[in-house]
Amino acid sequence: MRDFEFQNGTKILFGKDQEQYVGRESTRYGKKLLLHYGGGSIKSSGLYDRVVSSLREEDIEIFELAGVKPNPRVSLVREGVIICKENNIDLILAVGGGSVIDSAKAIAAGAKYEGDVWDFYTGKNSVSDCLPIGVVLTIPAAGSETSAGTVITNEDGFYKRAMGHNNLRPKFSILNPVLTYTLPSFQTACGITDMMAHILERYFTNERNVELTDRLCEATLKTIINNAHTVLENPTSYDARAEIMWSGTIAHNDLLSTGRVGDWASHDIEHEISGIYDIAHGAGLAIVFPAWMKYVYKHDINRFVQYAHRVWNVEIDPFDLEKTALAGIKKTEEFFRSIGMPISLTEVNIFDEHIDEMAKKGTERGPLGNFVKLYEEDVRQILQLAK
Ligand code: NZQ
Ligand code: ZN
Repeated sequence: MRDFEFQNGTKILFGKDQEQYVGRESTRYGKKLLLHYGGGSIKSSGLYDRVVSSLREEDIEIFELAGVKPNPRVSLVREGVIICKENNIDLILAVGGGSVIDSAKAIAAGAKYEGDVWDFYTGKNSVSDCLPIGVVLTIPAAGSETSAGTVITNEDGFYKRAMGHNNLRPKFSILNPVLTYTLPSFQTACGITDMMAHILERYFTNERNVELTDRLCEATLKTIINNAHTVLENPTSYDARAEIMWSGTIAHNDLLSTGRVGDWASHDIEHEISGIYDIAHGAGLAIVFPAWMKYVYKHDINRFVQYAHRVWNVEIDPFDLEKTALAGIKKTEEFFRSIGMPISLTEVNIFDEHIDEMAKKGTERGPLGNFVKLYEEDVRQILQLAK
Protein backbone atom coordinates (compact mmCIF):
# COMPACT_ATOMS: atom_id res chain seq x y z
CA MET A 1 0.00 0.00 0.00
CA ARG A 2 1.26 3.47 -0.89
CA ASP A 3 1.52 6.36 1.53
CA PHE A 4 -1.40 8.72 1.15
CA GLU A 5 -3.15 11.83 2.37
CA PHE A 6 -6.93 11.69 2.44
CA GLN A 7 -9.22 14.61 3.11
CA ASN A 8 -12.76 14.92 1.89
CA GLY A 9 -14.48 17.73 3.73
CA THR A 10 -17.88 17.71 2.04
CA LYS A 11 -20.70 17.65 4.57
CA ILE A 12 -23.37 15.17 3.50
CA LEU A 13 -27.03 15.53 4.37
CA PHE A 14 -28.62 12.25 3.31
CA GLY A 15 -32.27 11.24 3.34
CA LYS A 16 -35.87 12.22 2.76
CA ASP A 17 -36.74 15.95 2.65
CA GLN A 18 -33.15 17.01 3.37
CA GLU A 19 -33.38 19.78 0.76
CA GLN A 20 -35.42 21.75 3.30
CA TYR A 21 -32.10 22.54 4.98
CA VAL A 22 -30.48 24.10 1.91
CA GLY A 23 -31.11 27.64 3.19
CA ARG A 24 -29.63 26.87 6.60
CA GLU A 25 -26.50 25.34 5.04
CA SER A 26 -26.08 28.07 2.40
CA THR A 27 -26.37 31.00 4.77
CA ARG A 28 -23.14 29.95 6.48
CA TYR A 29 -21.30 31.19 3.38
CA GLY A 30 -23.01 34.52 2.80
CA LYS A 31 -26.19 36.15 1.56
CA LYS A 32 -25.64 36.37 -2.20
CA LEU A 33 -26.06 33.08 -4.02
CA LEU A 34 -25.88 31.97 -7.63
CA LEU A 35 -28.48 29.24 -8.21
CA HIS A 36 -27.19 27.07 -11.06
CA TYR A 37 -29.24 24.35 -12.74
CA GLY A 38 -29.93 22.52 -15.98
CA GLY A 39 -32.70 22.17 -18.48
CA GLY A 40 -35.81 22.20 -16.35
CA SER A 41 -36.19 18.85 -14.55
CA ILE A 42 -35.92 20.66 -11.21
CA LYS A 43 -38.86 22.89 -12.14
CA SER A 44 -41.18 20.10 -13.27
CA SER A 45 -40.41 18.04 -10.15
CA GLY A 46 -41.17 20.96 -7.81
CA LEU A 47 -37.66 20.91 -6.36
CA TYR A 48 -36.89 24.41 -7.61
CA ASP A 49 -39.77 25.90 -5.58
CA ARG A 50 -38.74 24.09 -2.41
CA VAL A 51 -35.12 25.18 -2.77
CA VAL A 52 -36.03 28.81 -3.42
CA SER A 53 -38.40 28.96 -0.46
CA SER A 54 -35.76 27.49 1.87
CA LEU A 55 -33.23 30.09 0.65
CA ARG A 56 -35.75 32.92 1.08
CA GLU A 57 -36.41 31.88 4.66
CA GLU A 58 -32.78 32.82 5.31
CA ASP A 59 -33.08 36.13 3.40
CA ILE A 60 -30.61 34.96 0.80
CA GLU A 61 -30.50 37.05 -2.38
CA ILE A 62 -30.75 34.69 -5.36
CA PHE A 63 -29.13 35.18 -8.77
CA GLU A 64 -29.91 32.51 -11.35
CA LEU A 65 -28.13 30.81 -14.21
CA ALA A 66 -30.05 27.96 -15.83
CA GLY A 67 -29.45 25.97 -19.00
CA VAL A 68 -26.52 23.69 -18.13
CA LYS A 69 -26.44 20.94 -20.75
CA PRO A 70 -25.18 17.40 -20.21
CA ASN A 71 -21.49 17.60 -21.16
CA PRO A 72 -21.47 21.20 -19.84
CA ARG A 73 -20.01 23.95 -22.01
CA VAL A 74 -17.40 26.55 -21.21
CA SER A 75 -19.50 29.32 -22.81
CA LEU A 76 -22.12 29.08 -20.05
CA VAL A 77 -19.36 28.89 -17.45
CA ARG A 78 -17.99 32.20 -18.73
CA GLU A 79 -21.46 33.77 -18.32
CA GLY A 80 -21.54 32.51 -14.75
CA VAL A 81 -18.11 33.95 -13.98
CA ILE A 82 -19.29 37.39 -15.12
CA ILE A 83 -22.42 37.19 -12.93
CA CYS A 84 -20.31 36.24 -9.90
CA LYS A 85 -17.77 39.00 -10.44
CA GLU A 86 -20.31 41.73 -11.15
CA ASN A 87 -22.51 40.87 -8.18
CA ASN A 88 -19.97 39.76 -5.57
CA ILE A 89 -21.58 36.34 -5.24
CA ASP A 90 -20.72 34.50 -1.99
CA LEU A 91 -21.77 30.95 -2.85
CA ILE A 92 -22.76 28.89 -5.88
CA LEU A 93 -25.56 26.40 -5.36
CA ALA A 94 -25.69 23.61 -7.95
CA VAL A 95 -29.06 21.86 -8.14
CA GLY A 96 -28.80 18.91 -10.50
CA GLY A 97 -26.32 16.28 -11.62
CA GLY A 98 -22.67 16.07 -12.51
CA SER A 99 -22.99 18.52 -15.37
CA VAL A 100 -24.48 21.25 -13.21
CA ILE A 101 -22.02 20.63 -10.38
CA ASP A 102 -19.03 20.62 -12.74
CA SER A 103 -20.20 23.84 -14.33
CA ALA A 104 -20.61 25.36 -10.84
CA LYS A 105 -17.08 24.30 -9.91
CA ALA A 106 -15.71 25.93 -13.06
CA ILE A 107 -17.59 29.16 -12.29
CA ALA A 108 -16.35 29.02 -8.70
CA ALA A 109 -12.74 28.86 -9.88
CA GLY A 110 -13.21 31.41 -12.67
CA ALA A 111 -14.80 33.92 -10.30
CA LYS A 112 -11.52 34.22 -8.39
CA TYR A 113 -9.29 34.38 -11.44
CA GLU A 114 -8.28 37.25 -13.73
CA GLY A 115 -7.70 35.15 -16.86
CA ASP A 116 -9.97 32.84 -18.86
CA VAL A 117 -11.36 29.88 -16.92
CA TRP A 118 -10.39 27.47 -19.74
CA ASP A 119 -6.75 28.00 -18.66
CA PHE A 120 -7.42 25.60 -15.79
CA TYR A 121 -8.48 22.85 -18.21
CA THR A 122 -5.47 23.20 -20.51
CA GLY A 123 -3.01 23.21 -17.63
CA LYS A 124 -1.95 26.79 -18.42
CA ASN A 125 -2.80 27.72 -14.84
CA SER A 126 -4.00 25.97 -11.71
CA VAL A 127 -6.69 26.85 -9.23
CA SER A 128 -5.56 28.70 -6.14
CA ASP A 129 -8.80 30.19 -4.87
CA CYS A 130 -12.48 29.62 -5.56
CA LEU A 131 -15.96 30.46 -4.30
CA PRO A 132 -17.64 27.89 -2.03
CA ILE A 133 -20.07 25.47 -3.69
CA GLY A 134 -23.17 23.77 -2.31
CA VAL A 135 -25.07 20.94 -4.00
CA VAL A 136 -28.56 19.47 -4.12
CA LEU A 137 -27.99 16.25 -6.08
CA THR A 138 -30.70 14.92 -8.43
CA ILE A 139 -28.89 12.06 -10.19
CA PRO A 140 -26.42 9.61 -8.66
CA ALA A 141 -23.72 9.14 -11.28
CA ALA A 142 -20.68 11.39 -11.66
CA GLY A 143 -19.78 11.62 -7.97
CA SER A 144 -19.06 15.31 -8.43
CA GLU A 145 -21.02 16.00 -5.24
CA THR A 146 -17.88 15.21 -3.23
CA SER A 147 -15.15 14.99 -5.84
CA ALA A 148 -12.41 17.51 -6.47
CA GLY A 149 -12.86 17.27 -10.24
CA THR A 150 -14.79 19.09 -12.93
CA VAL A 151 -15.16 18.17 -16.59
CA ILE A 152 -16.05 20.85 -19.15
CA THR A 153 -16.39 20.88 -22.92
CA ASN A 154 -14.99 23.68 -25.05
CA GLU A 155 -17.18 24.03 -28.13
CA ASP A 156 -14.18 25.50 -29.90
CA GLY A 157 -12.56 22.25 -31.06
CA PHE A 158 -14.86 19.97 -29.00
CA TYR A 159 -12.29 19.39 -26.32
CA LYS A 160 -13.73 17.78 -23.21
CA ARG A 161 -11.19 18.23 -20.44
CA ALA A 162 -10.98 17.61 -16.70
CA MET A 163 -9.23 19.47 -13.91
CA GLY A 164 -9.28 19.19 -10.17
CA HIS A 165 -8.40 20.89 -6.93
CA ASN A 166 -9.23 19.95 -3.35
CA ASN A 167 -10.83 23.36 -2.76
CA LEU A 168 -13.41 22.57 -5.44
CA ARG A 169 -14.98 19.86 -3.33
CA PRO A 170 -18.45 21.12 -2.40
CA LYS A 171 -18.86 22.46 1.14
CA PHE A 172 -22.10 20.52 1.49
CA SER A 173 -24.11 18.10 -0.61
CA ILE A 174 -27.73 17.23 -0.05
CA LEU A 175 -28.62 13.70 -1.13
CA ASN A 176 -32.31 12.82 -1.05
CA PRO A 177 -32.97 9.53 -2.86
CA VAL A 178 -36.61 10.56 -3.42
CA LEU A 179 -35.37 13.27 -5.82
CA THR A 180 -34.11 10.52 -8.13
CA TYR A 181 -37.56 8.91 -8.59
CA THR A 182 -38.23 11.10 -11.65
CA LEU A 183 -35.11 10.00 -13.53
CA PRO A 184 -35.73 8.42 -16.93
CA SER A 185 -34.50 4.81 -16.87
CA PHE A 186 -31.79 5.62 -19.42
CA GLN A 187 -30.31 8.26 -17.10
CA THR A 188 -30.58 5.93 -14.11
CA ALA A 189 -28.66 3.29 -16.06
CA CYS A 190 -26.04 5.79 -17.25
CA GLY A 191 -25.49 6.79 -13.64
CA ILE A 192 -25.14 3.17 -12.53
CA THR A 193 -22.58 2.55 -15.27
CA ASP A 194 -20.61 5.67 -14.42
CA MET A 195 -20.36 4.86 -10.71
CA MET A 196 -19.28 1.29 -11.52
CA ALA A 197 -16.65 2.72 -13.87
CA HIS A 198 -15.34 4.99 -11.10
CA ILE A 199 -14.75 1.91 -8.97
CA LEU A 200 -13.25 -0.13 -11.80
CA GLU A 201 -10.79 2.66 -12.65
CA ARG A 202 -9.51 2.34 -9.09
CA TYR A 203 -9.74 -1.45 -8.91
CA PHE A 204 -7.42 -2.12 -11.83
CA THR A 205 -4.15 -1.08 -10.25
CA ASN A 206 -0.62 -2.45 -10.19
CA GLU A 207 -0.39 -1.81 -6.45
CA ARG A 208 0.03 -4.91 -4.28
CA ASN A 209 -1.25 -5.44 -0.71
CA VAL A 210 -4.34 -3.30 -0.98
CA GLU A 211 -6.80 -5.84 0.36
CA LEU A 212 -9.00 -3.40 2.27
CA THR A 213 -9.61 -1.12 -0.70
CA ASP A 214 -9.98 -4.10 -3.06
CA ARG A 215 -12.74 -5.43 -0.86
CA LEU A 216 -14.38 -2.04 -0.38
CA CYS A 217 -14.44 -1.71 -4.17
CA GLU A 218 -15.95 -5.17 -4.56
CA ALA A 219 -18.59 -4.50 -1.89
CA THR A 220 -19.62 -1.22 -3.52
CA LEU A 221 -19.78 -2.85 -6.96
CA LYS A 222 -21.89 -5.70 -5.62
CA THR A 223 -24.26 -3.29 -3.91
CA ILE A 224 -24.78 -1.40 -7.16
CA ILE A 225 -25.27 -4.61 -9.14
CA ASN A 226 -27.73 -5.98 -6.55
CA ASN A 227 -29.89 -2.85 -6.62
CA ALA A 228 -29.68 -1.82 -10.27
CA HIS A 229 -32.56 -3.87 -11.60
CA THR A 230 -34.76 -2.95 -8.65
CA VAL A 231 -34.47 0.78 -9.32
CA LEU A 232 -35.08 0.25 -13.02
CA GLU A 233 -38.15 -1.93 -12.47
CA ASN A 234 -39.44 -0.02 -9.49
CA PRO A 235 -38.20 3.59 -9.73
CA THR A 236 -39.86 4.60 -6.46
CA SER A 237 -38.20 1.94 -4.33
CA TYR A 238 -36.68 4.17 -1.65
CA ASP A 239 -34.37 1.51 -0.27
CA ALA A 240 -32.82 0.63 -3.63
CA ARG A 241 -32.57 4.29 -4.68
CA ALA A 242 -30.81 5.03 -1.39
CA GLU A 243 -28.28 2.22 -1.90
CA ILE A 244 -27.53 3.43 -5.42
CA MET A 245 -27.26 7.06 -4.39
CA TRP A 246 -24.83 6.46 -1.55
CA SER A 247 -22.82 4.03 -3.69
CA GLY A 248 -22.39 6.75 -6.31
CA THR A 249 -20.79 9.01 -3.73
CA ILE A 250 -18.62 6.30 -2.16
CA ALA A 251 -17.45 5.28 -5.64
CA HIS A 252 -15.86 8.66 -6.26
CA ASN A 253 -15.08 10.37 -2.93
CA ASP A 254 -11.52 9.01 -3.11
CA LEU A 255 -11.79 6.63 -0.14
CA LEU A 256 -11.57 3.70 -2.55
CA SER A 257 -8.34 5.01 -4.08
CA THR A 258 -6.44 5.42 -0.81
CA GLY A 259 -3.06 3.71 -0.98
CA ARG A 260 -3.35 2.78 -4.65
CA VAL A 261 -2.98 4.30 -8.10
CA GLY A 262 -6.01 4.11 -10.37
CA ASP A 263 -6.04 3.77 -14.14
CA TRP A 264 -8.46 6.31 -15.73
CA ALA A 265 -7.68 5.53 -19.38
CA SER A 266 -11.28 4.44 -20.05
CA HIS A 267 -12.53 7.79 -18.72
CA ASP A 268 -10.08 9.71 -20.87
CA ILE A 269 -11.08 7.75 -23.96
CA GLU A 270 -14.77 8.25 -23.16
CA HIS A 271 -14.25 12.00 -22.83
CA GLU A 272 -12.96 12.04 -26.41
CA ILE A 273 -16.16 10.31 -27.53
CA SER A 274 -18.63 12.50 -25.64
CA GLY A 275 -16.57 15.60 -26.50
CA ILE A 276 -17.20 15.03 -30.19
CA TYR A 277 -20.49 13.11 -30.25
CA ASP A 278 -22.19 14.59 -27.17
CA ILE A 279 -23.39 11.19 -25.94
CA ALA A 280 -24.14 10.51 -22.25
CA HIS A 281 -20.93 9.85 -20.31
CA GLY A 282 -22.28 6.61 -18.75
CA ALA A 283 -23.30 5.23 -22.14
CA GLY A 284 -19.82 5.98 -23.50
CA LEU A 285 -18.26 4.13 -20.57
CA ALA A 286 -20.43 1.03 -21.15
CA ILE A 287 -18.90 0.94 -24.63
CA VAL A 288 -15.29 1.73 -23.73
CA PHE A 289 -14.73 -0.19 -20.49
CA PRO A 290 -15.30 -3.75 -21.78
CA ALA A 291 -13.14 -2.97 -24.83
CA TRP A 292 -10.37 -1.65 -22.55
CA MET A 293 -10.64 -4.80 -20.42
CA LYS A 294 -10.29 -7.05 -23.45
CA TYR A 295 -7.23 -5.09 -24.55
CA VAL A 296 -5.35 -5.14 -21.22
CA TYR A 297 -6.42 -8.23 -19.24
CA LYS A 298 -3.26 -10.20 -20.04
CA HIS A 299 -1.23 -7.58 -18.19
CA ASP A 300 -2.48 -9.05 -14.89
CA ILE A 301 -4.66 -12.10 -15.37
CA ASN A 302 -4.83 -12.75 -11.62
CA ARG A 303 -6.44 -9.39 -10.96
CA PHE A 304 -9.05 -10.06 -13.63
CA VAL A 305 -9.65 -13.53 -12.18
CA GLN A 306 -10.16 -12.01 -8.73
CA TYR A 307 -12.60 -9.51 -10.26
CA ALA A 308 -14.54 -12.23 -12.10
CA HIS A 309 -14.74 -14.44 -9.04
CA ARG A 310 -15.45 -11.92 -6.29
CA VAL A 311 -17.70 -9.51 -8.15
CA TRP A 312 -19.47 -11.78 -10.65
CA ASN A 313 -19.26 -15.13 -8.79
CA VAL A 314 -17.46 -16.80 -11.70
CA GLU A 315 -15.99 -20.12 -10.60
CA ILE A 316 -12.21 -20.11 -10.94
CA ASP A 317 -10.84 -22.66 -13.39
CA PRO A 318 -7.29 -23.20 -12.04
CA PHE A 319 -6.26 -24.79 -15.34
CA ASP A 320 -7.61 -21.96 -17.48
CA LEU A 321 -7.28 -18.60 -15.74
CA GLU A 322 -7.73 -16.79 -19.03
CA LYS A 323 -11.18 -18.35 -19.41
CA THR A 324 -12.11 -17.13 -15.93
CA ALA A 325 -10.82 -13.62 -16.64
CA LEU A 326 -12.73 -13.43 -19.92
CA ALA A 327 -15.90 -14.67 -18.23
CA GLY A 328 -15.71 -11.70 -15.85
CA ILE A 329 -15.40 -9.30 -18.76
CA LYS A 330 -18.35 -10.95 -20.48
CA LYS A 331 -20.44 -10.64 -17.31
CA THR A 332 -19.61 -6.93 -17.19
CA GLU A 333 -20.73 -6.47 -20.76
CA GLU A 334 -23.91 -8.51 -20.22
CA PHE A 335 -24.77 -6.47 -17.16
CA PHE A 336 -24.42 -3.16 -19.01
CA ARG A 337 -26.59 -4.59 -21.77
CA SER A 338 -29.19 -5.82 -19.23
CA ILE A 339 -29.67 -2.30 -17.83
CA GLY A 340 -30.21 -0.88 -21.30
CA MET A 341 -26.77 0.49 -22.10
CA PRO A 342 -25.21 0.36 -25.55
CA ILE A 343 -22.03 -1.73 -25.60
CA SER A 344 -20.69 -0.85 -29.03
CA LEU A 345 -19.97 2.35 -30.93
CA THR A 346 -22.14 1.19 -33.82
CA GLU A 347 -25.19 1.12 -31.54
CA VAL A 348 -24.81 4.87 -30.97
CA ASN A 349 -24.12 5.52 -34.67
CA ILE A 350 -20.42 6.12 -34.29
CA PHE A 351 -18.40 4.71 -37.14
CA ASP A 352 -14.80 5.08 -38.32
CA GLU A 353 -14.96 8.78 -39.17
CA HIS A 354 -13.36 10.26 -36.03
CA ILE A 355 -11.54 7.24 -34.56
CA ASP A 356 -8.09 8.44 -35.63
CA GLU A 357 -8.84 11.95 -34.41
CA MET A 358 -10.01 10.67 -31.01
CA ALA A 359 -6.89 8.51 -30.60
CA LYS A 360 -4.66 11.46 -31.51
CA LYS A 361 -6.44 14.08 -29.39
CA GLY A 362 -6.71 11.74 -26.44
CA THR A 363 -2.98 11.10 -26.28
CA GLU A 364 -1.61 14.48 -27.32
CA ARG A 365 -0.68 15.30 -23.71
CA GLY A 366 1.01 11.92 -23.19
CA PRO A 367 0.01 8.26 -22.83
CA LEU A 368 -3.22 7.38 -21.02
CA GLY A 369 -3.72 5.10 -18.04
CA ASN A 370 -1.54 3.65 -15.31
CA PHE A 371 -2.44 -0.05 -15.18
CA VAL A 372 -1.17 -0.25 -18.75
CA LYS A 373 0.21 2.86 -20.50
CA LEU A 374 -1.71 3.47 -23.71
CA TYR A 375 -0.30 5.31 -26.70
CA GLU A 376 -2.12 6.61 -29.75
CA GLU A 377 -2.09 3.25 -31.52
CA ASP A 378 -3.39 1.45 -28.42
CA VAL A 379 -6.29 3.89 -28.10
CA ARG A 380 -7.09 3.41 -31.77
CA GLN A 381 -7.17 -0.36 -31.26
CA ILE A 382 -9.42 -0.07 -28.21
CA LEU A 383 -11.82 2.11 -30.19
CA GLN A 384 -11.74 -0.48 -32.97
CA LEU A 385 -12.51 -3.22 -30.42
CA ALA A 386 -15.43 -1.09 -29.20
CA LYS A 387 -17.05 -1.05 -32.64
O1 NZQ B 1 -30.94 19.34 -17.24
P1 NZQ B 1 -32.05 18.65 -16.56
O2 NZQ B 1 -33.38 19.07 -17.04
O3 NZQ B 1 -31.94 18.74 -15.06
O4 NZQ B 1 -31.97 17.08 -16.98
C1 NZQ B 1 -30.89 16.24 -16.60
C2 NZQ B 1 -29.99 15.88 -17.77
O5 NZQ B 1 -30.69 15.92 -18.98
C3 NZQ B 1 -31.46 14.90 -16.20
N1 NZQ B 1 -31.81 14.82 -14.79
C4 NZQ B 1 -30.99 15.00 -13.73
N2 NZQ B 1 -31.65 14.75 -12.59
C5 NZQ B 1 -32.92 14.43 -12.93
C6 NZQ B 1 -33.03 14.47 -14.33
N3 NZQ B 1 -34.18 14.18 -14.98
C7 NZQ B 1 -35.24 13.86 -14.23
N4 NZQ B 1 -35.21 13.76 -12.88
C8 NZQ B 1 -34.07 14.03 -12.19
N5 NZQ B 1 -34.03 13.88 -10.85
O6 NZQ B 1 -30.41 13.98 -16.43
C9 NZQ B 1 -29.63 14.42 -17.54
C10 NZQ B 1 -28.18 14.16 -17.27
O7 NZQ B 1 -27.68 15.01 -16.25
P2 NZQ B 1 -26.09 15.16 -16.04
O8 NZQ B 1 -25.88 16.13 -14.95
O9 NZQ B 1 -25.43 15.43 -17.35
O10 NZQ B 1 -25.66 13.68 -15.59
P3 NZQ B 1 -24.44 13.15 -14.80
O11 NZQ B 1 -24.61 13.36 -13.34
O12 NZQ B 1 -24.24 11.79 -15.29
O13 NZQ B 1 -23.19 14.07 -15.22
C11 NZQ B 1 -22.44 13.79 -16.36
C12 NZQ B 1 -21.27 14.74 -16.48
O14 NZQ B 1 -20.37 14.56 -15.37
C13 NZQ B 1 -19.03 14.39 -15.88
C14 NZQ B 1 -19.29 13.69 -17.18
O15 NZQ B 1 -18.17 13.71 -18.03
C15 NZQ B 1 -20.47 14.46 -17.74
O16 NZQ B 1 -20.05 15.65 -18.35
N6 NZQ B 1 -18.21 13.71 -14.88
C16 NZQ B 1 -17.81 14.42 -13.82
C17 NZQ B 1 -16.98 13.88 -12.85
C18 NZQ B 1 -16.54 14.67 -11.68
N7 NZQ B 1 -16.77 15.96 -11.66
O17 NZQ B 1 -15.93 14.17 -10.73
C19 NZQ B 1 -16.47 12.51 -12.95
C20 NZQ B 1 -17.19 11.69 -13.94
O18 NZQ B 1 -16.36 10.65 -14.34
C21 NZQ B 1 -17.68 12.39 -15.14
O19 NZQ B 1 -16.66 12.50 -16.12
ZN1 ZN C 1 -17.28 9.00 -14.85
